[in-house]
Amino acid sequence: MARLIRHTDTGPVELKPCEKSQWVYACGLSQGMPLCDGSHKKARQEDASKLHVYNADRTEVVEACDDK
Ligand code: FES
Repeated sequence: MARLIRHTDTGPVELKPCEKSQWVYACGLSQGMPLCDGSHKKARQEDASKLHVYNADRTEVVEACDDK
């Protein structure tokens, strides 16, 4: 069974439980979930008018089609 999940954030969410911030991924591309690893930079290069489909390990776009 496969599942598609739509992520529209292009950066992490800051959590500050103590003095030091923790950055939790929100883009769906992090290899170190639940923490941000900088992979969101790829999302910032996406064409906003397109739906981008990534491969199973979330490392590269395999398809970009019109997002209606
Ligand atoms: S928010 Fe996804 S890796 Fe940073």
